[in-house]
Amino acid sequence: MIVAKHFIFLGAPGVGKGTQAQRFAQLMDLPHVSTGDMLRASVQSGSEIGLRAAAVMESGALVGDEIIVRIVEERLLLEDASDGVIFDGFPRTIHQAHALDNLLAVHGDEIGAVLHLDLDDEEIVGRLSGRRVCSKCGAIYHIRYHAPTVYGICDICGGGLLQRDDDQPAVIRKRLAVYQAETAPLIAYYHDRPAYHLVSGEGEVDDVFSRIVKAVEVAG
Ligand code: AP5
Repeated sequence: MIVAKHFIFLGAPGVGKGTQAQRFAQLMDLPHVSTGDMLRASVQSGSEIGLRAAAVMESGALVGDEIIVRIVEERLLLEDASDGVIFDGFPRTIHQAHALDNLLAVHGDEIGAVLHLDLDDEEIVGRLSGRRVCSKCGAIYHIRYHAPTVYGICDICGGGLLQRDDDQPAVIRKRLAVYQAETAPLIAYYHDRPAYHLVSGEGEVDDVFSRIVKAVEVAG
């Protein structure tokens, strides 16, 4: 029997989880599962989950564990998840981490690696305030560090680039505080497992990616 191996990108908002998880998913040929992207798609479609999540996301707080665990559980049942997925932004609370462990135990799946990206808050605020995201394909840009060739247009699909509603300064501060209170405890939760790797998020995207690949190769 093939055991599915799931990879977790853990870290504060804006540390580079999405940027790195998209690349890592391509390298591993596994689906990129971002709970943030899934929630934003639900908000756009006006679904029941979207209606419940919209105001919470705009405020910078976390969406309820029950909703998140339900969407992840459903996502893992899809055929393309059978070899594993790259989680980006999940788990985000101790409750979610327990729920994931229970799900993995039921299916006989494993955690391939927990990649904890770390960066200081000043750099994080600079990254988030300059972020732009493609409205069509979700590609991530930065007005200074990773600008598109044509202003406001995605290099990959030609879609328009947008600033996320929660990338306003007051909401960024709230998201960082919520991270400290609710998500940072996950570091202790995973720290003593062999799958846990602390990776510096500093420097160029390519350099961070090389550190991630090295951490996973050395462990595997
Ligand atoms: P989510 O979408 O998960 O956002 P987040 O965790 O706040 O993380 P971000 O997407 O803001 O940052 P990132 O680390 O992915 O950085 P990125 O690669 O984009 O969640 C949004 C909301 O949804 C939450 O607030 C919550 O309400 C809800 N939610 C989602 N999941 C949930 C869950 N599990 N439970 C409960 N609620 C949930 O990079 C940022 C910028 O930096 C970009 O512009 C990028 O180009 C640039 N950049 C990246 N790397 C570098 C580099 N090395 N050098 C220079 N610039 C860089």
